[in-house]
Amino acid sequence: MDIDVIFASADSDAAVDSALAVAWKTLSEFHAPVSQRNELFVYYKYLDEVLMSLFRSGEVESVEAAMIHVEYLAEKAGCISEVILCGEHFTADSQVIQDALANIGDVLRGALQKRVEGPSEANPGVADSVTSFSGNNDAADSVADSGGALESALVMAWQTLSGIGVSVPQSGDLFAYFKALDDVLVALTRSGGVAAVEAAMPHVEYLAGKADCIPAVILGGRQFTAHPQVILEALANIGGALRGAFVTPAEQLPEGIPAEVFALILEAEAKLAGWCSREKALVIARIVLQERPVTCVEIGVFGGRSLVPCAAALRHIGAGAIYGIEAWSPNVAIENATNDVNDEWWSKVDFAQIKRAFYQFVAETNLTQHVRVIEAPSGRAAMLFDEIDFLHIDGSHSVLNAAQDVLLYASRVRSGGIVVFDDVNWQSTAPARELLAALCDTVAVLKDPESGLDICAVFRRR
Ligand SMILES: C[S@@+](CC[C@H](N)C(=O)[O-])C[C@H]1O[C@@H](n2cnc3c(N)ncnc32)[C@H](O)[C@@H]1O
Repeated sequence: MDIDVIFASADSDAAVDSALAVAWKTLSEFHAPVSQRNELFVYYKYLDEVLMSLFRSGEVESVEAAMIHVEYLAEKAGCISEVILCGEHFTADSQVIQDALANIGDVLRGALQKRVEGPSEANPGVADSVTSFSGNNDAADSVADSGGALESALVMAWQTLSGIGVSVPQSGDLFAYFKALDDVLVALTRSGGVAAVEAAMPHVEYLAGKADCIPAVILGGRQFTAHPQVILEALANIGGALRGAFVTPAEQLPEGIPAEVFALILEAEAKLAGWCSREKALVIARIVLQERPVTCVEIGVFGGRSLVPCAAALRHIGAGAIYGIEAWSPNVAIENATNDVNDEWWSKVDFAQIKRAFYQFVAETNLTQHVRVIEAPSGRAAMLFDEIDFLHIDGSHSVLNAAQDVLLYASRVRSGGIVVFDDVNWQSTAPARELLAALCDTVAVLKDPESGLDICAVFRRR
């Protein structure tokens, strides 16, 4: 446990440790992982997941009761409850921490007790009964035809998840599917995709009803038994709900953009901070899909709005990486002046939060294989690249930094490679644009539909 951030004496440390051990034990009853059971902050991260699953299974009273204690703790720690439930570090008096752990534990044990007294008592052990979907499932064996259909429904169900960025494990079994589905539903709930969650949950609940268990058992990836036809229908219906939320019908896809790339562009737009317009995101994705660059570099990642279209396209073609160069530091962002309003704005940005959301998005959407981050001022990272195939310059717009980025990076772009340069209409970026024109031919210019001004230009290195 990180005792350095808790105001505590040696005695109270021991008391917090034992309260924490009890708290983890209770949480483990909900199938939260226990590998880091000594970590206070990780406990709260998993508590968040348990509360989400309680909420989804309709056990709202328990969630509300637990939240009272989380909120009290947050108030004493001088932060908001989301900080605590994200697993962030906080400081509070050790007695307050112990009380919160004990009170939350009481609530969770009460929720468990209600479950025991609820539907599962009528069929004790059903939720735990082992059903091997592909082999020794009596129900499945008894309906041989639907067994085959069920296998295909499961393949399709995984395909839908994979289309929205979930990695498909080797076994790809039924129970793992529902665990992965749980993560998707949590992510959707957090990102405002409540309609899709509401569309999918009745099918999970119906399946749980037929399997004589609660939805949390199914969404926890635990084994359950149900008639194959019921499972098959649940998979198909849940898939339909998810595709409705994420996948655009082929005829509505922008030209040349595969469904899963478009889905990620929309998701990035919805979840990430930044300025990349839909039009620019599509331009970036199309360039990557057509030119198939191997080494891509973006200077100025911010929340990842423009990096994600590139990464999504790279994942689609199955090769290449985008190196995002970003300092996430106000001092670097305003190192050289642009204009007063702009510099004032950048000096107040909560970069830590922007960075966290970016990393979380990249991990959750399974883009990590194609994304590399270099957290440094751009001037220090150029020498890492011998040859660049695709370059997006969108860092500091000061005269000096923009020109330096062109000199250091555009000169490393191979002949025939592409450079996208943002905010070409700024007075301060004019010298950089001129330098670029000396190295490259202009391929396209994106204009602001309202003002008609150039906002972004695409160049090809001579
Ligand atoms: C305009 S924002 C990038 C926006 C992003 N590309 C998008 O489309 O949403 C510029 C970013 O460049 C970063 N930045 C500014 N100067 C930098 C430097 N010298 N090195 C690295 N990053 C820098 C800032 O921290 C900021 O996040």
